[in-house]
Amino acid sequence: MSRTYVVTGSASGIGKATTKRLRDQGHDVIGVDLRDADVTADLSTQEGRTALVTQVQERTGGTVDGVIAVAGLVAASPVTVGVNYFGAVATLEGLRPLLEKSAAPRAVVVASLAALEETDEGLLRQLRANDEAAALKEATRIGTETNAAGSSPIYTTTKLAISQWVREHAKTAEWAGAGIALNAIAPGVIETPMTLAALESEEGRAALDEGAPSPLNGPAAPPAAPAALLSWLASEENTHVTGQIIFIDGGAESIRRPELV
Ligand SMILES: NC(=O)c1ccc[n+]([C@@H]2O[C@H](COP(=O)([O-])OP(=O)(O)OC[C@H]3O[C@@H](n4cnc5c(N)ncnc54)[C@H](O)[C@@H]3O)[C@@H](O)[C@H]2O)c1
Repeated sequence: MSRTYVVTGSASGIGKATTKRLRDQGHDVIGVDLRDADVTADLSTQEGRTALVTQVQERTGGTVDGVIAVAGLVAASPVTVGVNYFGAVATLEGLRPLLEKSAAPRAVVVASLAALEETDEGLLRQLRANDEAAALKEATRIGTETNAAGSSPIYTTTKLAISQWVREHAKTAEWAGAGIALNAIAPGVIETPMTLAALESEEGRAALDEGAPSPLNGPAAPPAAPAALLSWLASEENTHVTGQIIFIDGGAESIRRPELV
C-alpha cells in the first residue's frame, strides 16, 4: 500500500537514495533540504523548522506514515549542532502529531558510528538539557579542534546525543504508546559527498578505515545500503523494532566494543 513519507536531507547522499527507493516503490515522498527539494528549509533555524512542519501539514492534509530524518553535516561548526541535533529533534517532534494519525507510523533518524569516538561533556550536557543557545556557545568554545580520530567533537557529540534522545523517547507514551516505532541507524562510512574527499586519497581511506574497520564488504558502503535499512525501519512491516540504534558499518561497532550485546 502506498504510504506518505517525509525525508530530510533528500537532495544528496543517503537522503537522496532513500527518497529514490521509496518513490520507486510507489510511495509519496516529501523531500526536505536546503535546495532541490519539495520543501526548502534550513533546519538549523527556527523559521526553517516551522516551515517544514507547516508545509508538510499543507501538502499531506495532516497525516504522515513515516518520517526519516537524514539531514546532517560533519563541519566543526555550531551549525552542526543546529542541524544534527536540534533540527532532527524538531523534525521528529514537529511531525509526531501527523504520525499519530497514521495506521502504521514510523520514525527513523540517522545517527553515526562516530558517536563511539571521543565526545565533549559540556556540549552533551546542553544538548541533553535541550538548551540550544547554551549548546551553540559550547560549540563555539570547541571551535575547530579535532579528537584523536580526527573528527570534530561537535559532530560526534551531536550524534551521541541524538542516539540517546531516541533511546529515551522511543518507549514513552508519546511514541510507543501512540504506536510509533522510533529508531536510529548508525552508519560507518558511506560513499556520499560527505566522505568523497577523504575516500579519494590513500591517506583519507586509511584514516576512515582505522575509525571504521569494515570486514564485511569493504571500506565504504553505497548509499543504497542505509537507504534500504531506513526504508524497512519506516515501513509497515516494522511492527516491533523500536528504541534501537542499528549500526550499518560492515562490522566496525562489533570490533570496537565486542563485549556489548
Ligand atoms: N556518509 C557517511 O559516511 C555517514 C556516516 C555516518 C552518518 N552519516 C550521516 O548521514 C546523514 C546524511 O549524510 P550524507 O552522507 O548523505 O551527506 P550529504 O552531505 O550527501 O547529505 C546531507 C544532506 O543534508 C542536507 N542539509 C545539511 N544542512 C542542512 C540544513 N541546515 N537544513 C536542511 N538540510 C540540510 C544537505 O543539503 C544534504 O543534502 C547525515 O546526518 C550524516 O551525519 C553519514
